[in-house]
Parts: sequence; C-alpha cells; structure tokens
Amino acid sequence: MVSLGTPLSPSATRVMLLGSGELAKEVLIALQRLGVETIAVDRYDHAPGHQVAHHARTITMSDPEQLRALVEAERPDVVVPEIEAIATPTLVELEAAGQRVVPTARAARLTMDREGIRRLAAETLGLPTSPYRFCDSLEELRAGAEAVGFPCVVKPVMSSSGKGQSTVRTAEDVETAWGYAMAGSRVAGTRVIVEGFVDFDYEITLLTVRSRRGEETVTSFCAPIGHRQESGDYVESWQPQPMSEVALRRAQDIAAAVTGDLGGHGLFGVELFVRGDDVWFSEVSPRPHDTGMVTMATQWQDEFELHARALLGLPVDTSLRNPGASAVVYGGVEATGIAFDGVDEALALPGVQLRLFGKPESFTRRRMGVALARGENPDAARATAREAASRVRPRA
Ligand SMILES: Nc1ncnc2c1ncn2[C@@H]1O[C@H](COP(=O)(O)OP(=O)(O)OP(=O)(O)O)[C@@H](O)[C@H]1O
Ligand SMILES: [Mg+2]
Repeated sequence: MVSLGTPLSPSATRVMLLGSGELAKEVLIALQRLGVETIAVDRYDHAPGHQVAHHARTITMSDPEQLRALVEAERPDVVVPEIEAIATPTLVELEAAGQRVVPTARAARLTMDREGIRRLAAETLGLPTSPYRFCDSLEELRAGAEAVGFPCVVKPVMSSSGKGQSTVRTAEDVETAWGYAMAGSRVAGTRVIVEGFVDFDYEITLLTVRSRRGEETVTSFCAPIGHRQESGDYVESWQPQPMSEVALRRAQDIAAAVTGDLGGHGLFGVELFVRGDDVWFSEVSPRPHDTGMVTMATQWQDEFELHARALLGLPVDTSLRNPGASAVVYGGVEATGIAFDGVDEALALPGVQLRLFGKPESFTRRRMGVALARGENPDAARATAREAASRVRPRA
C-alpha cells in the first residue's frame, strides 16, 4: 500500500529534484498535483523548477560537500536526479546509508558519462551499439578512428546536448575533432569516445517505465517517439514514429534489458537508431527525456506524470491518446528577462499548446519554450507544431 501525506505538515511526502530545468518543472507540477512536498535544486536562482516548488535551493550539485549537506539537512523521502552533472558518487554513498534515489544511484552514476553506460550496454549486456573506442589522447583517437572506420563521431565522455561532438569524415579531420571535444567537455579531462557512424533511417526515444504493481515491478513502453537533432540538440519530435513490428520488438527488448539492469522505479528515455529491422542502442536517460515533451500533447499520462507515479510506487498508463508533435522555441536573443511576442497567434492554431519555461536568461540557442500540437497523424502535427513555434517571437 502507498500512502501520501499533506505538504508542509509532519505527514508530508517530500521529494527533492536535483536539477530544476523545464523537465524537472513538469515533474514537480505532477508531484504537486498529488500533494507531494517538493524541493527544487539548481545551480542558479529562479530556475524553471524553483518557480513551482514548495522550496527552492541553489547549490553546486557537482560539489560532493554541498550536495551531501543539502540532502542531510532536508532529509527528503526521495531524491530525484534530473540532470547528469551531479556528484553521483555522493548519491551512491547516501543511498548506501538509506537515502532513496530514483531510479537508483547506480543508474545516475553509470549514465553521467558515456563510458559507464556504453560498457554496460555493449560489453555486459551484449546489446547492439555502434563500434566504439575510448581515447585519452590525439594519438589514441587517430588509432580509434581507424579502428571504427570513417565516417565516425567523436564526443567527450562528459558532455550532453551535442557539446564538443563532431563527425569525422577522413583521417585529416581527426585533429580538429579532438580540439573541439577538448573545448566542449563538461569537466577537465581528456577522455573521448569515437563511434562508428550509424547510417540510420530514423532515430527514436523509447520511453520505458518501471513501476510497481503490488509487490512486483512491471516494465511498460510508450509509443516510439521520432525526433530530429541539429548539432546534437533536438529541434522537433513526434509520436508515434511508424516502425516495423520486428524493429519495435527489438527496441523494446533492448530497452527492457538496459532499464532492467539499471533497476529501481521511474521513467527512462532509451535512445535508439533504426535501419530497416535493425536497432542499435545509443544511450539512456534514467529520467524524462527532452524529446518526450511531446507526450504532453499525445498521452493520457505524459512522461512527467509517469515518472512521478512510478517513483511514488503508483500504477501507470503509458497508452497513446492521439498523434502529436513538439517543436522547440529558441531564445534567439542574448538577454535577461525577455518577452515573447505572438503567443496569441501561436495558440490560435487548433490543437496547439505552449510551454514557456520561465528561464531568467536567454541565449540564441537556449531552449526557452516548446510548442505542442495534436494532429491527425504525426506529419500533420509536425507541421502545426513548427508553425506554432515560429509564431512565438522572443525579444530582448
Ligand atoms: N554513432 C552515431 N551515428 C550516427 N549518428 C549519431 C551517432 N552518435 C550520435 N549521433 C547523432 O547525434 C545525436 C546526439 O548524440 P548523443 O545522443 O550521443 O549526444 P548527446 O550530447 O547526449 O545529446 P542529447 O544530450 O541531446 O541526447 C544523436 O541523437 C544522433 O542524431
Ligand atoms: Mg542523446
């Protein structure tokens, strides 16, 4: 049996989100709806999630001392990592001392860099991935690129959103890719992964939920989400992505294997490449996925409600309600406290919703909002979502 308390009272069920961006903001809203007391943590003040939580805290989450001190002071029932850049060894220690971490501290640790999760998927679980090598110097990268073949993709092991990532077509390009990766790494450190380029027909995010049913844990899948990436950042996504039955079953088998190994309860975003009936594992987020924002327009329970329910031990429903799409609204300007013109024009389109995240500072390529559209089919919804996003005009 699961019982939930009353916020701001001794009975409260208290959940702490580590990372308070747009995805955390929606998880916090889903938790709020169930009367959960929420603590939103980020590295800067007035982050999107800070604005909808009972408590807002600003710390450097990659600093082990600051992270431990905050968790020990707040004593939440559950800690929910929402970004990768966290002192995950501290989470492992806190979990060992009895603190619940979603889905598990090990999942947060293995997915915080590309090496832990790639070695688990390819070497331990034997899942299909692109060929790869880890390299610590330009010389190793030259050899690694030759080994996986051209074209290949070079990425710092510690980076996200395409930072420091580039595609290398010939041996002459390797040095440039090395320099680019060194400049784009999240932390000081020189390790990169070089991966053989997978010439996929399309790529998907398979949202996978591990939730409780009585004493058992069950795995459920959302309909596959198709998406398009530009310089490592998603620009639009749609659901459902049409797939062959064989490819869908392979995708679900891969997702079940990797999430089953990571364990715990929660929603995972499993990124996969598909060509014909062949499927390759790329990476996994043990938390809601940016491309999954489309589920706010397509599912009875969006990915944020699914994560909230699963982490609280509640039942979930991953079924699709209707096709839909999402398109990102970029900042376009470098300024603080910007305004968005044309919101009325965007929302005048039928079946459109908008999320403006409330980020205090805009950058040209910063994701400031997202347009969501329902549609007869994914293509119609994509066109509507793109049109809606283009009608929103940020200005300084
Ligand atoms: N080996 C590969 N072959 C072909 N395309 C690739 C390969 N690796 C990455 N890509 C392309 O680059 C995109 C970003 O790569 P990846 O997901 O590894 O990086 P990321 O920085 O974690 O991005 P994000 O944080 O946005 O998920 C992929 O979604 C895919 O479109
Ligand atoms: Mg990715």
